[in-house]
Amino acid sequence: MKIIAGNWKMNGTRVALDAMLGKLCEIKTDNRVILCVPFTMLRPGCDAVAIGAQDISQHPAGAHTGDISAAMISDAGAKYVIVGHSERRAAYGETNDIVRAKAAAAIEFGITPIICVGETAAERDAGKTMEIIERAVRESVPKNTKQFIIAYEPRWAIGTGITPTANEIRHVHKHIANILGDMGVPAPILYGGGVNSKNSTDIMDIENVDGVLVGGASLKPDDFIPIIMGAK
Ligand code: PGA
Repeated sequence: MKIIAGNWKMNGTRVALDAMLGKLCEIKTDNRVILCVPFTMLRPGCDAVAIGAQDISQHPAGAHTGDISAAMISDAGAKYVIVGHSERRAAYGETNDIVRAKAAAAIEFGITPIICVGETAAERDAGKTMEIIERAVRESVPKNTKQFIIAYEPRWAIGTGITPTANEIRHVHKHIANILGDMGVPAPILYGGGVNSKNSTDIMDIENVDGVLVGGASLKPDDFIPIIMGAK
């Protein structure tokens, strides 16, 4: 069983989501399929597909104009939420501490957080990948919980069409599995960044890769469904 999570980012319409779910909900698969959509499209999923959000506030309620809480996405039908995506870390200065608070807020309302970690190209070139990832995992995962998913997304691979080699992915995923083992909180580890229907099966065959987080290739059924069907 693999986890195939789509991240629609700031794309799509409710009509497009209806069309996607019309197809995805018919699929017979043992894999867990999650579609993380913009807030305005949140709705209950179906047996085959869970719906998730792409961010939440770390606060439970109150004077936070424009923010959306974990309770609100739960009320709308979401079961998952992406937290700490590199686009939010980069554009809104979200730190590991903020990401951990958001993940904790999700868990409190029964929402499973997909906690993203990943190094920049500069950090990779400086040989700091393992150190950055270790700090991000240790600081972004809330204490005393096993209800979460990690997504390793090298920032230089997101939306660029460039993916790391299988060895690079194996190496980092093993590192994350070891850190989670040391923390006593084993959790599924997804790979994200440049995943498409041509490379997804090979990526998911790599040791300690429990699934994928898919951006661009999750927007169209013809791109996304083969990724789900190709996962063993
Ligand atoms: P991509 O994005 O698949 O388009 O590279 C992945 C992500 O940002 O989650």
